[in-house]
Amino acid sequence: MEVIISHDAESASKKAARYIADVIKRKPNCVLGLATGSTPLALYKELIRMHKEENLDFSQVVTFNLDEYLGLPNNDPRSYHYFMHENLFSHINVKPENIHIPDGMTTDVLAFCEEYENKIKQAGGIDLQILGIGNDGHIGFNEPTSSFASRTRIKTLTHDTIESNARFFDNDENKVPRHVITMGIGTVMDSANVLLLAFGKSKANAISQTVEGPLSAFIPASVLQMHKHAKILIDEQAASLLKLKDYYRWVYDRKPEWNKWL
Ligand code: PGA
Repeated sequence: MEVIISHDAESASKKAARYIADVIKRKPNCVLGLATGSTPLALYKELIRMHKEENLDFSQVVTFNLDEYLGLPNNDPRSYHYFMHENLFSHINVKPENIHIPDGMTTDVLAFCEEYENKIKQAGGIDLQILGIGNDGHIGFNEPTSSFASRTRIKTLTHDTIESNARFFDNDENKVPRHVITMGIGTVMDSANVLLLAFGKSKANAISQTVEGPLSAFIPASVLQMHKHAKILIDEQAASLLKLKDYYRWVYDRKPEWNKWL
C-alpha cells in the first residue's frame, strides 16, 4: 500500500487526474472503475479539462461504476447514473456503449449482478479502480462486515451512510433508498490497480484504520492492505491521524524518478 499525502484536495485531485491520464495514454482501451460522491468531483473536473484542453481521448476507454441506489431511475437527479453523466460522461468522448453502471431499476437483481461481473470479466478486468471511502471505512457500498470475498450484489445501507447521504435527498433520511447494488470487495480486489482518495478531517479515522489498523471486515477498506498495487492519495487533514505520516512523506520524496507515478 502506498500512502501519498498531498497538501490539499485540489492538488491531490490533479495528481490523480495525471495518473489516470497516464494510464489512458499507455492503454487507450483501458478499463476504469469509477466512483461517485463528493470526493472524485475535482478529479472529474480536471479530467474534463484535460479532455478539452489537452485532447485526452476517452474514445476507447471502458468504464464500470461501483454502485447505484436500488429504486432510482437513471434520470433521477439523485441516481449515480445522473451523477456520472452530469459530472463526467457528458463532457468527454467516452462511448455510451462503453459505460457500465449498475441498474437501480432492474427487476432481477441476482441475474443483473451476475451479468455485471461477467461484463467486467469480458472487458478483461478493471485496470484501475478509483475509490472513495465512507467515514465508517466502506468502499463502494460495502458496509462494515461485508465479506472480503463478496462480489457485485444487493446491500442494505447502514444508518450512518443513510445519514451522511441524506444531504443529496433534501436532508431527509427517509428519502434515502435503503438498498443498493454494489461491486463486492472481491470485485474491487480483482482490479489490477486501486487508487483510493480521501479528503478532510471526517475521513481521518477511517484512513488511519485502513492504513494502520488491523485487517478487518469491520473496516472494509483495510482489505487494501492485501492488494498488490493500492495507492492511498489523501490530503493533510485525512492524513492527520496516521502514526507514520512522516515516513510516508519520506518514502514518497525519495522515490526514484523512474518509479514516480505523479
Ligand atoms: P464522499 O463519499 O466522497 O461523498 O465522501 C465517499 C463514500 O461514501 O464512499
